[in-house]
Amino acid sequence: MKTLIEPFKIKMVEPIRQTTEAQRLTILKKAHYNPFTIRAEDILIDFLTDSGTGAMSDAQWGAIMTGDEAYAGSRSFFQFEKAVRDITGLKHIIPTHQGRAAEKILFSLVGGKGKLIPNNTHFDTTRANIEYSGAEAVDLVIPEGKIPSCVHPFKGNMDLGKLAAFLAKHHKSVPIGMMTVTNNSGGGQPVSMENIRETARLYRKYKIPFFLDVCRFAENAWFIKIREKGYAKKSVLEIAREMFSYADGCTMSAKKDGMVNIGGFLALNDDALAMQARNLLILTEGFPSYGGLAGRDLAALAVGLYEALDEDYLRYRIRTAEYMGERLLAGGVSIIRPTGGHAVYIDAKAFYPDIPPAQFPGQVLACELYKKGGLRGVEIGSVMFGKNATMELVRLAFPRRVYTQSHFDYAIEVILETFADRKKAKGLKITWEPPFLRHFTARFAPVGK
Ligand code: F0G
Repeated sequence: MKTLIEPFKIKMVEPIRQTTEAQRLTILKKAHYNPFTIRAEDILIDFLTDSGTGAMSDAQWGAIMTGDEAYAGSRSFFQFEKAVRDITGLKHIIPTHQGRAAEKILFSLVGGKGKLIPNNTHFDTTRANIEYSGAEAVDLVIPEGKIPSCVHPFKGNMDLGKLAAFLAKHHKSVPIGMMTVTNNSGGGQPVSMENIRETARLYRKYKIPFFLDVCRFAENAWFIKIREKGYAKKSVLEIAREMFSYADGCTMSAKKDGMVNIGGFLALNDDALAMQARNLLILTEGFPSYGGLAGRDLAALAVGLYEALDEDYLRYRIRTAEYMGERLLAGGVSIIRPTGGHAVYIDAKAFYPDIPPAQFPGQVLACELYKKGGLRGVEIGSVMFGKNATMELVRLAFPRRVYTQSHFDYAIEVILETFADRKKAKGLKITWEPPFLRHFTARFAPVGK
């Protein structure tokens, strides 16, 4: 059959509150043209993030009910540890409440002034935690990874030539090397197994421990299966295990491919570093057998990690992004190509060629999509990065197992209708902004008002 169905049935529903365009305009004005400050109940389809927004399965809810809430040595912890060790092969498994808590602990230990930490592209929180420690975060993705229209099967790959040159010069200042799979900041783009292997080899040459940021490890493994020679017949679990086999450790936000609403971990082989990490964990997250989570959260995570590796689920998930991408391109809308794992990124500069970056075309598009059809996406451009922005994008990220085909068809229609009306859109100006991370709370007004 050609029709790909959602590989699940729906057992519990959450009503969506319908709004009219006139109501949404009032809401948008009240929110000062910043979709972050709109209440979730005023959103029809929420594509703000794929992080912690997924639907858990009946098996996960079942595990929740049998979670063991013992402070120390909970049964749920051992289920979680077994699952993470089975998939990653790593020795020390340290639970945290989410990804950035694992990053904070890791970089408090290995970071510091004068240190350099390379990655394909650091996610914002990774970069922020590195910089907070005094170290410098260095992005070395392949050049193709920075061009939205450039089609490449593994656009998240590390530029191995650049990494080799970088390490030859700076290896003494590099405490660990990193790699983000999939590369969120570059469009959710995958990294090939060959690239992971070669990156590991370069780090190993200088005895630098190699850490993966594995928030979307299952999506990356699926792309390897369908795009890389020699992997078509391997299971996604086998591919994931091979990815992890090259690493000395990883940080994980389980709010993505852990299929849970909260959770994360730091996993690593080094005994001394693990002991230091557990000491810090007790200060900031909690006892090493729960790390900022309830026992039930760990139990749900132990189940979710395997569900993320289900091939019917991954086929449906990756196809969803691809389907939306194809329909938008056919309608003349420019997006980052090819579509990645968890999101579609619209090129707002191409959408609104007459709105200059100083008038925030990405923010305009995010607002217009809300006004037209109640969609919420996030601007990734001049609002988020100020003068350092290289692209003006709107990310529509897909919660896992939440929306169906008709929700996506509706979203596509909204985007295409917004595109048809593109000449009517006006630029925005900032009327107020906080000192850091302005995109969350900044206020805007239409230019000329
Ligand atoms: N690394 C990557 C690649 C991420 O995408 C995220 C979160 C983190 C680390 C941090 O994890 O949120 O659990 O602390 N990304 C979310 C997003 C917020 O919307 O892309 P966290």
